[in-house]
Amino acid sequence: MHDGDRIFRRLPAALVLLLKAALAAAQRTTLNVGYVLSVSTLNAADTFYTIPTAATQLALSIALCSGSINSTSPRFFVSNASSTASPGSGGGEDVFEIVLDQGVGNWTGTFPEGGVLGVEDDANVQMPFEIGLSDGVPIHQLISEPLLFGDSTTTQAILFSPPFSPENLQDPTYPNYTLPSANLSYQPPTDPTNYTVIVSPTSNSLTTMQQTACALRTQKSTGIVANQSLWMRDEEGWRTEWFFSGLVAQTNYTMYAIEDGYKVAGPIFFTTKSSSFSCPLVSQLSYCPSIAYAMPLPPPPNGLLAYDDSSLPPSISEPLISSLTNFTTSLTTFACGRDLYSPLVTCADCQRAYRTWLCTVSLPRCADEDTAPPNAALLRNQAADARNSAFPGGNNYTQLLPCLETCTAADRACPNFLGFRCPLPRFNAASSYGVGYVDSTVEGVQGGGVPGMWSDNFGNVWCTSGQ
Ligand SMILES: *[C@@H]1O[C@H](CO)[C@@H](O)[C@H](O)[C@H]1NC(C)=O
Ligand SMILES: *[C@@H]1O[C@H](CO)[C@@H](O)[C@H](O)[C@H]1NC(C)=O
Ligand SMILES: *[C@@H]1O[C@H](CO)[C@@H](O)[C@H](O)[C@H]1NC(C)=O
Ligand SMILES: *[C@@H]1O[C@H](CO)[C@@H](O)[C@H](O)[C@H]1NC(C)=O
Ligand SMILES: *[C@@H]1O[C@H](CO)[C@@H](O)[C@H](O)[C@H]1NC(C)=O
Ligand SMILES: *[C@@H]1O[C@H](CO)[C@@H](O)[C@H](O)[C@H]1NC(C)=O
Ligand SMILES: *[C@@H]1O[C@H](CO)[C@@H](O)[C@H](O)[C@H]1NC(C)=O
Ligand SMILES: *[C@@H]1O[C@H](CO)[C@@H](O)[C@H](O)[C@H]1NC(C)=O
Ligand SMILES: *[C@@H]1O[C@H](CO)[C@@H](O)[C@H](O)[C@H]1NC(C)=O
Ligand SMILES: *[C@@H]1O[C@H](CO)[C@@H](O)[C@H](O)[C@H]1NC(C)=O
Repeated sequence: MHDGDRIFRRLPAALVLLLKAALAAAQRTTLNVGYVLSVSTLNAADTFYTIPTAATQLALSIALCSGSINSTSPRFFVSNASSTASPGSGGGEDVFEIVLDQGVGNWTGTFPEGGVLGVEDDANVQMPFEIGLSDGVPIHQLISEPLLFGDSTTTQAILFSPPFSPENLQDPTYPNYTLPSANLSYQPPTDPTNYTVIVSPTSNSLTTMQQTACALRTQKSTGIVANQSLWMRDEEGWRTEWFFSGLVAQTNYTMYAIEDGYKVAGPIFFTTKSSSFSCPLVSQLSYCPSIAYAMPLPPPPNGLLAYDDSSLPPSISEPLISSLTNFTTSLTTFACGRDLYSPLVTCADCQRAYRTWLCTVSLPRCADEDTAPPNAALLRNQAADARNSAFPGGNNYTQLLPCLETCTAADRACPNFLGFRCPLPRFNAASSYGVGYVDSTVEGVQGGGVPGMWSDNFGNVWCTSGQ
């Protein structure tokens, strides 16, 4: 600035002021629509950024890249009026503060003559941050669709991103009422949403950090992504499925996923099993697409990490596929699509509910002895699996019961003539199903879990829902 001051001294006073203002404006960085500006250090306590003229609506977003959610941070003010050149806490025409929550904030509005973003760093915390400008949704945001924990073993876990690209699953119609076959198959989307996963021991306290992609990315993800693929579990759509290995037994983990580099999903929590847990993971079954959990089986063949369609023994898959095929045949003896057996549900709903129930009762789920709900322990140390003799005995394992609600859902969705019946909670249901975990309003509630849910946000699972 010394050279500049020397030049100014030779000029008349009014002109000097104008030149200084022009110089300051020229030093302002311009924000570009569709881009993110990453700021590592501010040059002065008050810094301004120019938003170029645009008549349309723009979304400005801020993400803090360091510190904890309670740290003192800079404050951000936006103005969309040409008369306010330096928006700040002093106010002015059309000045709005972008209030940050967990390190992220946004302001959406019109900028008929452009605008200015002002940053006040009174406490001189010099916190790095990002500014995003978009003509659509804010570039930085916390996304609300949840992540999903499939299951874990001692050192492995199956984790899912939020759903995207939902399939347009139209129910069949008369005269061609053809229900999906037992094996489902879908064409993966050509432009899947890009998710990056972060897994960290819960003891690293990622939840107290700024909940932004730039802050979370500074934490190295634990474990190894041994496989990553796209999978359509259910009608909600496709998900990225991560198969993690290299985790530590009996450890609580926190998981996040970052969408397209700037949007944050999560956190969710899960726990790895104790070292005595011996059941391998099974997932990506085309006839039971929602299943992703540990089953009482020997270690997978050929050094595979887990079982899938190609490696699950036919003695397990064949009867299941056959039952589903036979059930579908019986179901379509009803005049599906022409007559209604219910104003609410269709044959397609019945087939979906039956599939969920059948998968759940045919494919036993192992639990960790220490954290299993009390009714699970009943089925410990059996010679062969009591429900499905195709599963070999010999494994010492604790089995979760299917959620009773998967049965009542099929009961409700299917026509009476099929004779589908579930045990009543009041009588003997609790010996063969997990009762009262999902639907807390049913009679004979057992509890133990969170009412209304088959699992909680901490990776605890109370019964097998197939969902
Ligand atoms: C600035 O945005 C606010 C809120 O959207 C709006 O009410 C106001 O008219 C805008 N100002 C200008 C000059 O467009
Ligand atoms: C934008 O910020 C508001 C609070 O000012 C918040 O309620 C909203 O969820 C944010 N939008 C997105 C897409 O994150
Ligand atoms: C009936 O529907 C099935 C599945 O949607 C389709 O594959 C088949 O080609 C259709 N048949 C006729 C005759 O339209
Ligand atoms: C942040 O502040 C809230 C409310 O004052 C407090 O409950 C919480 O423990 C604090 N978190 C951290 C990480 O300091
Ligand atoms: C990863 O998953 C794909 C798709 O399911 C499978 O073909 C492949 O064999 C898996 N790789 C490993 C190492 O398990
Ligand atoms: C994991 O977190 C749960 C609370 O969700 C806690 O009860 C348990 O002790 C933790 N386990 C370990 C191994 O830290
Ligand atoms: C996904 O996003 C990450 C981080 O932003 C990036 O490094 C990677 O190249 C992206 N992958 C694809 C296929 O776009
Ligand atoms: C269904 O999937 C199973 C297991 O992958 C496979 O063995 C069988 O051939 C498939 N059946 C059909 C009709 O595609
Ligand atoms: C399905 O039907 C066929 C033919 O009726 C029968 O042979 C088979 O045992 C049935 N499958 C099951 C699992 O009941
Ligand atoms: C199963 O557990 C029982 C009791 O804890 C034990 O006596 C038995 O040796 C175990 N069997 C195997 C195969 O680990």
